[in-house]
Amino acid sequence: MTQWLVNGMPDGSLSPQDRGLTYGDGLFETIALRAGKFRLLDFHLERLQVGCERLGIPPPATELLRAELKQVAVNCTSGTGKIIITRGCGPRGYRAPAQAQATRLVGLFPDSAGSLPSWRDGIRVRWCRTPVAENPALAGLKTLNRLEQVLARSEWEDEAITEGLMSTPQGQVIGGTMSNLFMVDDGQLLTPDLSRCGISGVMRRLILKVAAELAINAFEQSIDAERLLAADEVFLSNSLQGIAPVIQLDDQPLPIGPVSRKLMQALSQRGVSECAAA
Ligand SMILES: Cc1ncc(COP(=O)(O)O)c(C=O)c1O
Repeated sequence: MTQWLVNGMPDGSLSPQDRGLTYGDGLFETIALRAGKFRLLDFHLERLQVGCERLGIPPPATELLRAELKQVAVNCTSGTGKIIITRGCGPRGYRAPAQAQATRLVGLFPDSAGSLPSWRDGIRVRWCRTPVAENPALAGLKTLNRLEQVLARSEWEDEAITEGLMSTPQGQVIGGTMSNLFMVDDGQLLTPDLSRCGISGVMRRLILKVAAELAINAFEQSIDAERLLAADEVFLSNSLQGIAPVIQLDDQPLPIGPVSRKLMQALSQRGVSECAAA
């Protein structure tokens, strides 16, 4: 059963005047619970802290968040943890209250057996028409404003297609609707530059760290469709699935190449069990 704590209260509720609801004025984290542990929790809490600082929302104490995650995950070893932080309630109008009292929601969606389909053997991906707007003030953050992704995800119903790629109006590919993008070109790892838009994923951060440890050259760059279509390998990443090799992009088949396999093996050794060989 999904369990939520609202400002620490199991039976707490959210005000209709909460700015998370009225303006999407807040941030969230989606965290994999595996073998009883919240994976990459330090990375998630760091991104949340940075986001609160950049938006001027009073950040919750990380020890409190850790304790509340533990509380909602009691008796559960596998699932998806959620933290939502909003600027709290305010009067009507965009102006933020001078003394904001942040709202804190911590929840857990337990996995039912076999509820997560495996992406390890490759996924099919399509292009989305819905563009991603550029805004350096919000770039990298996991804000509650996800309407672009909602519209993009409504572009297809075909269950065989797992993800859709999104680009800026100028044609720079940014990532999937729920994932970051990587491509391999001549042994080098490239991932879109996220200084103007996109979410700076925690799994992306881990992959870049692991790539450095494995002496794989990695670069954050602008990537357009033409460049992506010429890639030797393409994969997506997120905190719940680790690496998802792309085996078909629209009609173009792609191989699961050596760099993807090497990184998946390294991630599986670091506890990303979804990347382990079957
Ligand atoms: C738009 C978008 N980009 C990237 C990601 C990957 O982020 P993370 O690795 O933190 O899960 C997500 C995750 O949901 C996402 O929604």
